[in-house]
Amino acid sequence: MSWEIVKWIILAVVFIFALTALTGAPYVPSRVSELRKAFKKLYPLGKKDLLVDLGSGDGVVLKVANEFGARGFGVELNPFLVLFTKLRFLRNKDIQIKMGNLFKINFPARTTVVYIFGDDRDISNMIDAVQKQANRIGKDLYVMSHGFEIPNKKPVKKYRAYLLYKITCVRDGVSA
Ligand SMILES: C[S@@+](CC[C@H](N)C(=O)[O-])C[C@H]1O[C@@H](n2cnc3c(N)ncnc32)[C@H](O)[C@@H]1O
Repeated sequence: MSWEIVKWIILAVVFIFALTALTGAPYVPSRVSELRKAFKKLYPLGKKDLLVDLGSGDGVVLKVANEFGARGFGVELNPFLVLFTKLRFLRNKDIQIKMGNLFKINFPARTTVVYIFGDDRDISNMIDAVQKQANRIGKDLYVMSHGFEIPNKKPVKKYRAYLLYKITCVRDGVSA
């Protein structure tokens, strides 16, 4: 491969990462050891669970969820991270990854818990998106937020930088 091609590939990668950082939270992966402890303390995952990771990065949260027996569904805007995650879980039918905007995706009906590692700009909009999905699929959902409090909402539990919230399904303006 010529240096000219390598240069263009590097530029494309840098451009895509910069662009996705402008539209939402930049790519910063969660730490595996902290994640394992946080799930054990706040929301013990098991076979009954399907975790949605909003902005799934390199898929590390999906991997940890799957270690506990849960299924995983990730949505990610950055095509390089989507490709990496697809290759990472090529033979794992429990994990699905979609390229797209987290604000426009429908959660699978079996979703039980949602992982959010966003930023200040987006946290309220992300919770609104989770609320819409809880109403659409007709059940309460748990949200594990890494590092960001949801404005005007009390967490069910806290562990270090992690907060667990319950989003109650609302139908026709009434809690289901
Ligand atoms: C802080 S990283 C978290 C990655 C992963 N959830 C983790 O905890 O390791 C945020 C990710 O969200 C992605 N992202 C930002 N805005 C997005 C959007 N609107 N739709 C989908 N993904 C988005 C970024 O590309 C980045 O990979």
